[in-house]
Amino acid sequence: MANYNIYFSPTGGTKKVADILAGNLAGEFRGIDLCKDVEPVKLSADDICLVSVPSYGGRVPAVAAERIKKIDGCGARAVLNCVYGNREWEDTLTELQDMLEGAGFKCVAAAAAVAEHSIFRQYAAGRPDAEDAAQLTGFAAQIQAKLDSGETSMSELAGSHGTYKEYNGVPFRPEGDERCTGCGLCAQECPVGAIDTENPASTDKEKCISCMRCISLCPNHARDFDPEKMRTIGESKAEALGGHKNNYLFI
Ligand SMILES: Cc1cc2nc3c(=O)[nH]c(=O)nc-3n(C[C@H](O)[C@H](O)[C@H](O)COP(=O)(O)O)c2cc1C
Ligand code: SF4
Ligand code: SF4
Repeated sequence: MANYNIYFSPTGGTKKVADILAGNLAGEFRGIDLCKDVEPVKLSADDICLVSVPSYGGRVPAVAAERIKKIDGCGARAVLNCVYGNREWEDTLTELQDMLEGAGFKCVAAAAAVAEHSIFRQYAAGRPDAEDAAQLTGFAAQIQAKLDSGETSMSELAGSHGTYKEYNGVPFRPEGDERCTGCGLCAQECPVGAIDTENPASTDKEKCISCMRCISLCPNHARDFDPEKMRTIGESKAEALGGHKNNYLFI
């Protein structure tokens, strides 16, 4: 039997939530980072996986979906975790459930939790915070009790199955500026290989998924996109992204 903490977390918010949950479940969890490509893997029925993704436009990020599909569940139990940036997660959990069940997992519980918005960082800033950590610790206790009971059904999730909200991406493609020293870290870490290792200041705009990982990792703060435009768009989203949103457990 093995436990896996499988996550796609370009800027670290999803991983923070996943680590709190995994850290409060029984046993050691082996990490699988979906920001890197994964080799096809076959699990077994007594394995347990915590599978965590951020919501992108109410959906599972496409590259995370592709990589999750390489994992053959073989009856392993899955705990789903969708992390959202204070707006909504819409079809993210149902899409993840469909995907995991299609790959042979048994889904036993699901969480939706808030983390700082990775584009508009003024929203849900600093979350998950201490209050979230305490609540997520309580969620983990309930999830553990469910796992210990051996029951494999899960309460119905809100959201669509099969036909999901259309995702059209967001129009932000970071590029390097004169502070770039060419260290290559962003090119190495971009989840979709959108940054040229020879010329890391440039970005392949077709490949880029606007995950903001390169901005958050660059040691020289050399990556950005039109800060003025960004501020205006950010301010216009106050109604949708503002206020205090909640964490939820479906069990
Ligand atoms: C391209 C993109 C789309 C996003 N779409 C949504 C969304 O539809 N709803 C939401 O609440 N947050 C949305 N967010 C915010 C992220 O879900 C949230 O910040 C999450 O914590 C990011 O995960 P990470 O820190 O692991 O990268 C989006 C972020 C990005 C980069
Ligand atoms: S991480 Fe920053 S400094 Fe390093 S190559 Fe990328 S943009 Fe340049
Ligand atoms: S170039 Fe685009 S996809 Fe790559 S890390 Fe930066 S924001 Fe993410």
